[in-house]
Amino acid sequence: MPQRDVVVIVGSLRRRSYTRRCALALMALAPESLKPGLVEIGDLPLYNQDLDPDSPAPAWVAFRDQVRPRDAVLFVTPEYNRSVPGVLKNAIDVGSRPYGQSVWSKKPAAIVSVSPGAIGGFGANHHLRQSLVFLDMPVLQQPEAYIAQANTLFGEAGEVNNEATKTFLTGFMAAFADFIERVKA
Ligand code: FNR
Repeated sequence: MPQRDVVVIVGSLRRRSYTRRCALALMALAPESLKPGLVEIGDLPLYNQDLDPDSPAPAWVAFRDQVRPRDAVLFVTPEYNRSVPGVLKNAIDVGSRPYGQSVWSKKPAAIVSVSPGAIGGFGANHHLRQSLVFLDMPVLQQPEAYIAQANTLFGEAGEVNNEATKTFLTGFMAAFADFIERVKA
């Protein structure tokens, strides 16, 4: 099986983010067939269509160049006000333009939502799915991943402190790897 390059995008900029910790855990638990790598979104200026296509912000160009050649995308996001944090939506918008040159198009994707609360970011998870439909990204359907009580699950470097969560996240990444192969076939 070829190794697949997976962009990992974290929807929180918080220094001690539970979402980032979860993303690090997912990366560590990925099967050998995946090569996951973080792509940062915190320095992207807010999208302004006036600048495309003639004078895009250099950070937009760098971001697009990082995502474009990769095989798949893993979104790991917190929930803000029952939706996707603005910083993540901005990154999605930046990657989607100029019109006809979206870096997202046809890339297989998976979504993990993360919250210290009980609902595990369900609202963010499903709002994000709505954008990915328009972006023509096939999205892993099962297993769904709503990581609740995330403040109790991860160490600073993404260590998972219980076997049930580790087993679930390992299975999720294995399912994503299978899904990528099915989409690419
Ligand atoms: C939140 N938080 C939150 N949590 C949730 O489960 N559902 C929600 O709708 C919201 N809304 C929300 C809005 C805003 C503006 C903030 C700052 C926070 C709480 C959120 O889950 C918590 O701050 C997490 O710690 C954020 O994730 P990271 O930064 O730890 O990854």
